[in-house]
Amino acid sequence: GIERTLSIIKPDAVAKNVIGKIYSRFETNGLTVIAAKMAWLSPQEAGAFYAVHKERPFFKDLVAFMISGPVMVQVLEGESAIAKNRELMGATDPKKAEAGTIRADFAESIDANAVHGSDGEETAKNEIAFFFPAMSVYSGR
Ligand code: CMP
Repeated sequence: GIERTLSIIKPDAVAKNVIGKIYSRFETNGLTVIAAKMAWLSPQEAGAFYAVHKERPFFKDLVAFMISGPVMVQVLEGESAIAKNRELMGATDPKKAEAGTIRADFAESIDANAVHGSDGEETAKNEIAFFFPAMSVYSGR
């Protein structure tokens, strides 16, 4: 069915000037941008967004990286949008990402891995609400 998912283009990819190239992959693969904004997250915001990883050893580095520059945040809508976006992104570690995926083509390391995408329906709902009030989501459906 039609789903929505939260996508973040991370500071490394924004700095590489590939927002458009990444949007193009979404659009040519059946995903529509229905909300978007650029943001430079505070440590508090980045920590809250990744709260589920708070006890993980990589949490501090993850937050430090996510606040190192502006990010581009969007809601994507389309058929099986959550899985489709994850397929387009490729594996979390770009060294393991399949050829032709966003991370294989634009990412350098597991921290600087170009993009984030919600990993399930509940996460997508919560992550979308974290960044966008309902009135800022412009579904054409
Ligand atoms: P993301 O999809 O944004 O979700 C959490 C992020 O933590 C992940 O992408 C990676 O950039 C980062 N990260 C760093 N080390 C790890 C790890 N060992 N396992 C999973 N995620 C990691």
